[in-house]
Parts: sequence; structure tokens; C-alpha cells
Amino acid sequence: MLKDKNIVLGVCGSIAAYKSALLVRLLVKAGANVKVVMTADAANFITPLTLSTLSKNPALVDYFKADTGEWNNHVELGLWADMMVIAPATANTLAKMANGLCDNLLSAVYLSAKCPVYFAPAMDLDMWLHPATRQNVSRLQSFDNIMIPPGNGELASGLHGEGRMAEPEEIVAFLEAESKKKLRLAGHKILVTAGPTYEAIDPVRFIGNHSSGKMGFAIADELALMGAEVTLVTGPTAQISKQQNIKRVNVISAAQMLEACLTAYGDAKACIMSAAVADYTPADVATQKIKKRDDDLRIELKKTTDILKTLGEAKREGQILVGFALETNDEEMNAITKLQKKNLDFIVLNSLNDAGAGFAGDTNKITIIDRELKKTTFDLKSKEAVARDICNRVAQLING
Ligand code: CTP
Repeated sequence: MLKDKNIVLGVCGSIAAYKSALLVRLLVKAGANVKVVMTADAANFITPLTLSTLSKNPALVDYFKADTGEWNNHVELGLWADMMVIAPATANTLAKMANGLCDNLLSAVYLSAKCPVYFAPAMDLDMWLHPATRQNVSRLQSFDNIMIPPGNGELASGLHGEGRMAEPEEIVAFLEAESKKKLRLAGHKILVTAGPTYEAIDPVRFIGNHSSGKMGFAIADELALMGAEVTLVTGPTAQISKQQNIKRVNVISAAQMLEACLTAYGDAKACIMSAAVADYTPADVATQKIKKRDDDLRIELKKTTDILKTLGEAKREGQILVGFALETNDEEMNAITKLQKKNLDFIVLNSLNDAGAGFAGDTNKITIIDRELKKTTFDLKSKEAVARDICNRVAQLING
């Protein structure tokens, strides 16, 4: 799983730095290209010469190469990396990462890296348990950085407890398992819809809704991380994808969204339709701005095409279709009706009666109902974590 992967290994000033020699050796043996970036303190524990020799690349400590005066370009290093692994990660470096400080090459590479970042903490028990460290770790996890948990045992201080860096073999096994898990959807094309649609009344006005697009964008990001080829058809929203390899198709109206979905549907293995599509659109769009009148204004609306239902009717054997239902009453009954009417594999139910669920916020609370009407209720979570639950379910259906 690590063959030909470009890995930046960040080494911090901890006694566990001596283990990074073995870690480099194991990563190189697994076929990875390794570039080591060390803090100045790390170089007191293990020499850059050792790590340069093992990695077959210069181990970098400073912004400048002392002999030639050349620049060690942190941005280039950050972009080169397919993954960044910080092991050992000290309390000091974790605090810098959590707060965006960048006073050495390692923290500058971290801030420049767009790839998944893993960190293997190494510190004394009391430092590990301190609320400041706990907060920094949670903050890093909220940035989607992944912790390789420290082990329990004898520490360099003589204390006994949690804080020991995971062994190099464990770190490599962790990275391999993560890479494998992550690519469960490789080779599959998946269509996602997100955001609201705007239905024009005249050149300056429209009928819209409060959908932020966050849920759909989080789903698209998660699918891309799992190796899928994602087409994201989105209505007007300020959201930006975190992952690079997503084909974004911007649309405004329900009619445009239908057209974009029909184009992508043919070779899509799965479709996850989280967009809040308008059910009605003005029957006639005024070509000029409608002027205020003394009496009331009536706008005639006509029904839009139900995109999900259309796709459900055209569903091929083995294709997976997922819809959303945002309900305020008779939630499960309404969701089941939609599931069956639209020929879905499962439906994601949001109840507006659940605090923290719905359009605007950063959290959501969902229940998944499948074709056999089996219900799975999840806790209130960040939209990223909810996206993971939904995408895991899709991956299970695809991979069996
Ligand atoms: N949907 C769609 N095309 C539409 C309307 C909805 O693809 N024109 C999709 C949404 O993306 C979502 C699901 O259908 O996955 C929502 O189902 P729907 O029955 O439209 O829900 P509501 O619009 O909320 O309908 P109702 O007002 O009847 O509850």
C-alpha cells in the first residue's frame, strides 16, 4: 500500500527520535520515497546523516542549506508529499501545529501540506494528560489530521503510563491499513448533488432555500478520500472542496441540475443526492424586472422534475442510489414513502425536531433506512463524520 508513495517524515526532539531510523528503514523497504524534515532539537537526538543515509534523501533541518545557501522550499515539500507523518510528535510541535505557528521548517511544511497528515505523539505521561495537550490533539483531529495512538508502558522519565510513541512497525502497519481503508472506492465513479437550487422569477429575483451545501461537499470530500472519481453537481453555494480530485459542475436551477445529473448518471456506480432541489419553479420567468404594483402579486408555479425519482426509474442492476429526507413530522413514514417511491437503496433521514440537525450548522443527526426498512440511528456529529457514516454504507453496498 505504501509503494511509490511520497512521504514526508517529520521528526521532533524526543528521545523516541532514535526510533525514526528504523521507521525510515521500514518505509523505504515498503517502497515509499521518504524525505525527512527534522527540528533542531531532533538533530540532538539523532543525526541528520543517519536519516539522510537511510532515506537516500537529505534530511532537512533548516530553511537554508548552510553550505550552498539554497532555500529548502517548504511549499514544494508540502505539495510533493502524498502523506506527512510526524513521528515522534512532541507536545511542543503538536501545539504549534494546532495553532498554525511556523517557526521552523517542519511546521512550515505541515502548514503547506495538502495531503493527509498523521502524527504519533511521544511525551511524558503528565504532558500527555495536560488539558492543553488534550485540546491540541482534538483540534488537530478536527483538521482531519490522524493520530497514531501512543502506547502504554515505561517512559523515559521513569514514569509508567500512556505517552510512548507507537513502535515503528506499528506505525507502518497503521499507515498501510489507513491507505487500504481509504481506497475502498477506487475505480468507481460517484455522482453527488449538493446545495440549493435557485428558481428565477425575473432577472433579479429567485425562489431559493437555506441549504448551505456543507453536507454534500463533506460527502464528496469523503468519497474522494476513499479513491472514488467524484462528480459534484452543486447549486449556488460558497463551499469549496477540500479534496483536489473532484469534478465540480456548477448549476443554478433544478432544470440545470437534472441535465448535469443525467450526463453523469450513465457510468456512475452510485449517486448520493443531498441537494435541496426546488419542487416548484415559476411557470413563466419575466424577462424584465417585475415592477411593484398596488395590489398583491401572484406567481404561478409549476412542478420541477424529481431528479432522484427520474434516476431511480432508470436505475441499472448494481447501481446504488441514495436520497435524503428532511422532515418535521411523521418522519420515518415520510422517509420510507420516499425510499420506495424513488427506488432508493437507502435514505438518509434528517428530522428538524433533532437539535443540531438540518441545513445551516456544522453538525447533523441522521437515521439511515435501507430497502429492508432496517433503521440505523446515529448520534449528533460533525457533517464530516456524518459523511463518513454515509460513505461507509455506500462502500459496504458496493464492495459487499
Ligand atoms: N430531489 C430531487 N429532485 C427534486 C426534489 C428532490 O432529486 N426535484 C431529491 C433530493 O435531493 C433529496 C430527496 O429528493 O435527496 C428529497 O425528497 P423530496 O420528496 O423531494 O423531499 P422534499 O422536497 O422535502 O419533499 P416534500 O416537500 O414532499 O417533503
